[in-house]
Amino acid sequence: MTSPKRVLSCIQPTGNLHLGRYFGAIQNWVGLQEKYECLYGIVDLHAMTMPYDPKKLTAATWELAFNLVACGLKPENIFIQSLIPEHIELSWIFNCMTGFGELGKMTQFKDKSRQVQEKGSDAQITSGLYTYPVLQAADILIYRADYVPVGKDQEQHLELTRNIAGRFNHRTGKPYFVLPEPLFTEIPKVMSTADPTRKMSASLGEKHNINLFASPEKIVKQIRSAVTDTGDTNGLMSPGVENLFSLLKAAGAEDDHAAFMQHFENGTLRYGDLKQAVSEAIVSMTEPFRDRKAEILADKKAMKAQIRSSTQRIRSLAQETVREVKEMMGLLNVRQA
Ligand code: TRP
Repeated sequence: MTSPKRVLSCIQPTGNLHLGRYFGAIQNWVGLQEKYECLYGIVDLHAMTMPYDPKKLTAATWELAFNLVACGLKPENIFIQSLIPEHIELSWIFNCMTGFGELGKMTQFKDKSRQVQEKGSDAQITSGLYTYPVLQAADILIYRADYVPVGKDQEQHLELTRNIAGRFNHRTGKPYFVLPEPLFTEIPKVMSTADPTRKMSASLGEKHNINLFASPEKIVKQIRSAVTDTGDTNGLMSPGVENLFSLLKAAGAEDDHAAFMQHFENGTLRYGDLKQAVSEAIVSMTEPFRDRKAEILADKKAMKAQIRSSTQRIRSLAQETVREVKEMMGLLNVRQA
């Protein structure tokens, strides 16, 4: 029997866990658990690459872990990156096999350095930000992952990961690392409810994104104030209305979606009714998440212990890889003659 293929993906404990991130990644991760062996990392070391507050990071890491479990990720599939220092060891080794120019080409580095500059005078563009994709390569290769579900924005980082793996294999003359493949899935595009021409994102600010764990009242309020149009669109669908339709479908209300689409075509669509249906769909989709979250929060200690122990189990996989890699690279291991 061949063992199931391994899937790996990671998420940073930064920003608000909003509907865009849920539909864009987490929902898909939950489903993949049925078919593959899955490892999902909360990458707090990556969160250090942008200006951040150390006093808030620990809480953000746990909060994200709880939220992910509440959404349906199995605690045994979750690990916390900083508890597995082997990621850092492997990333150093990979840093010594990666060209300076290769990293300079990364579009995310360019975007994020611009963001740092815009933040103000004492913020620095760090070498951590520059070598971030190398740490990402280590996250993936350390577990010999076959598939990496990522968004298009991560395609370049995955290509670098494959290059590093190929280079390592070539250097050592062994097909040691699996060349991981991206898993791109069809995902609903969710736009900001305040500016539907821009993607829903935490960095735009609170009124632009809907927190996955917002109260039903808050959800209703936010959808009610979502931007639509003033009606003078000549029968074309405005970005705001299109976004409401996307949200309706993404939240699973297929029948409502079809019915309202019919109204749109007949020119009888009332935005108020559409909005009500959208908020109802989101409230009911997120209800089990809120319930499960409350259960987790009632015994946080137990959940933390569970995730720490799954991290330890996952760490042993990383340790094996690093031991072998160090040997191949001429480095010493502690327990070795
Ligand atoms: N760079 C990814 C992001 O910003 C997060 C990430 C870190 C990641 N390591 C990874 C994603 C490994 C997939 C695999 O979204």
